[in-house]
Amino acid sequence: MTITMAKGLLEAFLEIRRTSERLCKPLTTEDYVIQALPDVSPTKWHLAHTSWFFETFLLRPHSQGYALMNDAYPYLFNSYYNSVGLPFPRAERGHLSRPTVAEVYAYRAHVDEAMARLLEQLDDALVPSVELGLNHEQQHQELILTDLKYNLGANPLRPAYRPPRARTEHPRSPGPSFIAFDGGLVDVGFDGPGFAFDNEQPRHRAYLRPFRLASRPVTNGEYTQFIADDGYRRWDLWLSEGWRILQERGWQAPLYWERRDEGWWHYTLAGLYPLDEQAPVAHLSYYEADAYARWRGARLPTEQEWEHAAAACPTLGTLLDDGVYEPRPAVGARDGLLQVLGDVWEWTQSSYSPYPGYRPLPGGLGEYNGKFMVNQMVLRGGSCVTPRSHVRVTYRNFFPPEARLQFSGVRLAADI
Ligand SMILES: [Fe+2]
Repeated sequence: MTITMAKGLLEAFLEIRRTSERLCKPLTTEDYVIQALPDVSPTKWHLAHTSWFFETFLLRPHSQGYALMNDAYPYLFNSYYNSVGLPFPRAERGHLSRPTVAEVYAYRAHVDEAMARLLEQLDDALVPSVELGLNHEQQHQELILTDLKYNLGANPLRPAYRPPRARTEHPRSPGPSFIAFDGGLVDVGFDGPGFAFDNEQPRHRAYLRPFRLASRPVTNGEYTQFIADDGYRRWDLWLSEGWRILQERGWQAPLYWERRDEGWWHYTLAGLYPLDEQAPVAHLSYYEADAYARWRGARLPTEQEWEHAAAACPTLGTLLDDGVYEPRPAVGARDGLLQVLGDVWEWTQSSYSPYPGYRPLPGGLGEYNGKFMVNQMVLRGGSCVTPRSHVRVTYRNFFPPEARLQFSGVRLAADI
């Protein structure tokens, strides 16, 4: 259920805004500004940009007498919306020593105050834009943590975002087993109730051949067998483009893995730890997910297969609200689908394209999703840092096939 269905719009707004700030509580002032890659953003920028979104699409056009806090902010915190002006270059977000962290929080308070006034007497026609702004901020809550993981993890000191985790005995993940689905003509896509992005619509009919889907995502332990079997040295397992990128970048394991004498370790938001063999493998590119599936004699699911299976069995795994911030071993019986939502985003073999009959939103918000529908692959199911009220089985995430920054993993599929 979306948060705006469960609560009033104002209450949902305040809760989501406070959640973003709560996630930043453990940070030092220095942590807010680092940008260790052109593709990741500093935390400070995320906090300002989500405020800019409400300012640009709700306050400036619809709140009489709204005053900008600073005339430069519409430029500094525009991500990619050409319809509302020139965006500040993405790769230079880490150059912004000003506004300070305190000034960014003051900017948030300025926007929150104006939004609270607007929400008290909101025109019904604006509800979809407010809901989009809230879901946008939830997307950035996930990005705050995944970008932070890279920004902190790039430091050889491997600083932790959260306190060391308690030593717990992890249960053994059940399975995996393969569950059969009949296929045929099925309906996919969102048709309500509640909020969904434009790219999940319209609901439409698709034909599926009978297929099988693994009961849970692939674990770290299973993935180490692929590495041990020279998975990263065998060209025959890889798509040509993936093999080229593997060589260029020297990939030998998933992002954040480090080999030590006693075995594999990985960097987590709690610091560096021995690999948990029972937890789902994360931070795989599409190419790695695909090569692993080929090594296993399986394949990646299509997004339609994934959604059809998930709709019948939408089990929850670890999500942001659990406060764990890393995938956990599956718990449950082996004869149903486990960890459908949460833990790791699951790569599908579907390229990110418009659904039949797709129309982008009117106006500037039409730039939200539609213009990215090329050269990216669809991922499904959310991750351990996706807010629970944000994800659903029709949700389409998308990234270029070489992307490894998100908690992205793999669930195997096979033909029958
Ligand atoms: Fe954004």
